[in-house]
Parts: sequence; structure tokens; C-alpha cells
Amino acid sequence: MPAPSSALRIALLGCGVVGTQVVRLLTEQAEDLAARVGAPLELVGVAVRDVDAPRDEVVPRALLTTDAADLVTRADIVVELMGGIEPARGLLLRAIEHGASVVTANKALLAQHGPELYQAADAAGVDVYFEAAVAGAIPLVRPLRESLAGDRVRRVLGIVNGTTNYILDEMTTKGLAFDDVLRTAQELGYAEADPTADVEGHDAAAKAAIIASLAFHTRVTLDDVACEGITKVSADDVAWATATGHVIKLLAIAELTDDGVAVRVHPSLVPATHPLATVGGAFNAVFVEAEAAGELMFYGRGAGGAPTASAVVGDVVSVARHRVLGGKGPDESRYADLPLAAADSAVTRYQIRVLVDDRPGVLARVAGVVAERDVSIAAMRQQGETADGGARLVLTTHSAPEAALAATVEAVRALDVVKEVTSVLRVEGA
Ligand code: NDP
Ligand code: HSE
Repeated sequence: MPAPSSALRIALLGCGVVGTQVVRLLTEQAEDLAARVGAPLELVGVAVRDVDAPRDEVVPRALLTTDAADLVTRADIVVELMGGIEPARGLLLRAIEHGASVVTANKALLAQHGPELYQAADAAGVDVYFEAAVAGAIPLVRPLRESLAGDRVRRVLGIVNGTTNYILDEMTTKGLAFDDVLRTAQELGYAEADPTADVEGHDAAAKAAIIASLAFHTRVTLDDVACEGITKVSADDVAWATATGHVIKLLAIAELTDDGVAVRVHPSLVPATHPLATVGGAFNAVFVEAEAAGELMFYGRGAGGAPTASAVVGDVVSVARHRVLGGKGPDESRYADLPLAAADSAVTRYQIRVLVDDRPGVLARVAGVVAERDVSIAAMRQQGETADGGARLVLTTHSAPEAALAATVEAVRALDVVKEVTSVLRVEGA
């Protein structure tokens, strides 16, 4: 084995759920990591908000500091695990300015300010690596950036938020209501005390922006993602999904359309036979469709301290190797610079549930307004009557542009024979 070079200095920003497990891996695997990198990795400081807070014994108290701005100037590799936009953004720019490579799991930061960080890193000749920012432990950034670099990705369809998958799975398998499962998810530590980013789809949207940028070599930011969360998914929706051979999943979808790159996050009806339908609990899975490779599926733990730390330390090893051997990893690839498609140009299918008057001619009236919008009906069935003389209709469309489908829903709602549109869900993966 070649004689090890001098140690590479690692600075950690944040020592919470993920940071603590990164310290554990860096400590417990130190010898192996040194052999893999060709130089020892030396933890030189850990920036936190409160140095006196109780911590796992694996964290060396002498390395704790509240002076993150100083710490980033004393490291070869800065690992950001604080979360949030500031001070994380400023600290990473400062680290890069001082010649450090950076590793982060912060999807919110990358989805908003990634281009600024990549540009600064290119100018400084250092790396920005972020495998853990999308789907935790699952290798996805590297496959999209490197393994599939010889192919053309057409579509990526993923369950990239564990909290919402847990909630929807519990609603499906136990017939529970959203609010009740959310409370349990918080008690179990899956959902944050403020679960907004998860349940409103913002966390998945940030990951979708990162995935789309990598898959289509085009800059996509959070603002470019059409986003709808799961707060309106009712126990009744879930029961109907089961009755029609589907499960409801919060999907992040990034695809090439005739109008360019379309990126969206929304609850979707997925056929029970689709591989994504079987992804249970807080697990993540991402389905990639590429021209030559065909369909690929990546599955695993999308969150949690140890799984996420695995991806973070993998990145640390990669950027450390670059520093030992010289050179750097791939720059941001945005050469394709494709147009971003308007949210309502995405092509999808709708399942629309309505309460109607139960009298002759109603089905024909509903079918008529659908046809007028050039939307084709795949199935329409009456699913029982209500006590007040109404009937429940379930209408599933063929694929059509989102704009035409949304206009169809409004036209159905406006019919005098329609008492209520009770639910509208997109059907994906069929
Ligand atoms: P935690 O909230 O558990 O930990 C955050 C850490 O950052 C704490 O140690 C905190 O200090 C420190 N910190 C926060 N703000 C500051 C500040 N202004 N100055 C100094 N230190 C600060 O977060 P997680 O470990 O859960 O998440 C870290 C990152 O990893 C986030 O970007 C998250 O999105 C991402 N991620 C998390 C996953 C998970 O499963 N948890 C999965 C995938 C990605 P103190 O300890 O003193 O409070
Ligand atoms: N809150 C996220 C989830 C984990 O539930 O998947 C970090 O990305």
C-alpha cells in the first residue's frame, strides 16, 4: 500500500440526527476510510448551536464550537448537516472560497441556491457532493450523474419522502385518517414537530428539482416544480383507491415532454401491480426510465441518521480521493439547457369522483362536457346511491394535458346535475 499522505481535515457543520452518525462512521471506520482514501481523515471541529447540549458519547466534546465561520477556514472538506438556508449557504460559500470541498445533505439549500454553490466550486476547482440530499441512503445522484451519463433519461418517478409514504401506507393498510397517522408519525420521530415541508410536498419538490437537474442536464429550481401535498387525501380517497386496484403515493415526477422538462409532485393513484405500489413504511424508491437502459429501480431508506450518514461519508471519501489524487469530480452539467414546461402541459390521467342527481340523462351530460374538452373517458361507473337520492360516479380519463383535465373538472363541477366533485386524483404508472 502507498504510504498515506498527510491527514485531510474534516469540518462538520451540525451534529444532530445525521451529524452524530457521521462522527460515528468517521471514528469507527477510521482505518478503512484512510485505506480507501489514501490518507487519514481527521475531524478538526464540529459546529453546533449549543456546545453544552447533551450529545452521544461518540461526539468529542473538545471539538465542539459555535464559531462555524472560523471552522470552515481550517478544513479541506466541509460537511454541512445543519439544514436550512442561512447560515448554511454563507458558510459553504466561505468554505469554497477558502479552497475546501463541500459535502451536504441539504436539499432545500441545493434546490434554491445550488447553481450559486456549483459556480463558486467550479471557479475554485473544488467539489460539491450531495448524494444524501435525495433519498437518503439510496445511491441516486451518482447513478444519474455518472452511471447513466452515456444514456438518455426520459422520466424519473419516485417516492422520495419517507414521512408521507409512512402516512399514506398507514392510511391504506389500517384505514386510519390523515390527522391520526400524522400524530403517530410525529411520536415515532418520522415527521418533524413542524411537518409542513413533508406533508405539503416541499421536501419532495426540492428533491425533484435536484433529480431533474441531474437527469436532464438543465437547471431546475424549487420554483419550477408544480407541488401539491397530501393534506387533502381523505380516508375515503384511500378506500376508493383500494377498491379500484390502486394505492395512493406522493410521487415526484421529472420527465421530458414535447414542451421541455416538466417536474411535479402530487399524490397519485398508482396501480397496485406497479413496483412503486409495494414500497411501504418510511422507505423511498425511485423508478428511472432511460432510453438504452430501460427501467431501473432504486430502493432503500430515504431518511434516518445512520442511513443518511452512509451516503454523506461515501461523498466524503469521493471528494477526499480527489484531493489526494488531484483533480475533481464532475462539474454541474447543464449543457442541454432545455426549456421548462408549464405545469399545466404535463400529460397525465385523472380519476374524478362526483356526487350527482340519480336520474336519466346524467351520465350523458357528464360524458358530454368531458368530450367537449377533447378528453377521452377510460372508465365511468356508478358506485352506489346516497340517502338523499344522489349517485356516486367514478370517472377515469385517458391521458390528456393537465390544462384540459383541469378544465374538464371545472366543467363537470358547473353542471346543475352535479352536487359535488368529491375528489380529483391523478393516475400515474399505468
Ligand atoms: P438536526 O436538526 O437533527 O441537526 C441539526 C444540527 O445543526 C444540530 O446539531 C444543530 O445544533 C446544528 N445547527 C443548526 N443551526 C445551526 C447554526 N445556525 N449554527 C450552528 N449549528 C447549527 O438535523 P438533521 O441531522 O436531521 O438534518 C441535517 C441535514 O440533513 C438537513 O439538511 C436535512 O434536510 C438533511 N437530511 C436529514 C435526514 C434525516 O433523516 N434526518 C435525511 C436526509 C437529509 P444543536 O445540536 O446545538 O442544536
Ligand atoms: N423528512 C424527510 C422524509 C427526510 O421524510 O423523507 C429527509 O429528507
